[in-house]
Amino acid sequence: MYFIANWKMFGGLNSLNTIDKVVKFFKAFKKNRSIKIIYCPPSTLISLMSKKLEKTNIEIGAQNCHEQESYGAFTGSINSKMLKNIGANYVIIGHSENRQSGESNQLINLKIKSALKSGLKVIFCIGETLREKRKKITKKILDKQLKLGLNKVNSKKNIIIAYEPVWSIGTGLIPKSDDLYETVNFIKKKMRKNKVLYGGSVNPKNINDLKSINNIDGYLIGGASQDPKKFIDIIKKRYS
Ligand code: 13P
Repeated sequence: MYFIANWKMFGGLNSLNTIDKVVKFFKAFKKNRSIKIIYCPPSTLISLMSKKLEKTNIEIGAQNCHEQESYGAFTGSINSKMLKNIGANYVIIGHSENRQSGESNQLINLKIKSALKSGLKVIFCIGETLREKRKKITKKILDKQLKLGLNKVNSKKNIIIAYEPVWSIGTGLIPKSDDLYETVNFIKKKMRKNKVLYGGSVNPKNINDLKSINNIDGYLIGGASQDPKKFIDIIKKRYS
C-alpha cells in the first residue's frame, strides 16, 4: 500500500522538520505491514530531504522532469539523471496540473522513457476533466492517456499508475465508490501487473470511505500531505 505525498509548489527549509513526526510514526507503524511512504517535495528540497531520510524507510520522489535524459541547454529545467543524482528514486509524470499548462501525451511519453532510463520509478498520473466525465468519456480518455503515455515503453515494471480525476484535485470532491472501483478496475485490466493508486482530495475524513474500495493500491495525496498530523491520520485510519 502506497502513501505518496505530493507537496506541489509548497515548502521551504523550515518544512523539512515537519517530516520528523512522520518518520517517527512510521518506524513503529510499518512493522509487518507492506506500506511504502514516498515524499515528493519541490526539487529545491529533494537533496536535503533525501539526506534527512537516509536511514529511514521513507523514499523520495520528484514532481516532474525534463524529457531529455542527458544534459542540455534548457534553462530552468531539471532532467531525470539530475534528480536521481540528488537522491530521488521516483518521479511523478503527467500530473494534470502540468497537462493543463501544456504537457501533451507525447511529451509525457518522452519524459517517462527518460525517467526509466535514468533508473527512476515513475508515478504516472492519468485522469479525466469534469467536462469529460459529464460527456461520459472517462474510459476513452484514460485509455488514450495510457496508450500514448506508454507508447513503446518496453518494460512497465517500474511504473505505478495514479488515477487522479482532475475535478477531484483540491476540490474536496471524490468519486462515488462504485464509480471509483469500476474505473480502477478498468485501468487494472489494461495494466495487469501495475499498482493503481487514487489521488484527489484524499483526507483523514474520506479515507474511511476510500478504504472500502478494495482494488486501490494506495493514495497520491496533495494538500493533506503537507500537514504531518493529517498525513499520519490518513495512514492510521486506512488500517483501523
Ligand atoms: P489534493 O490532495 O490536494 O486534492 O491533490 C491531489 C493531487 O494532485 C496529488 O497529486
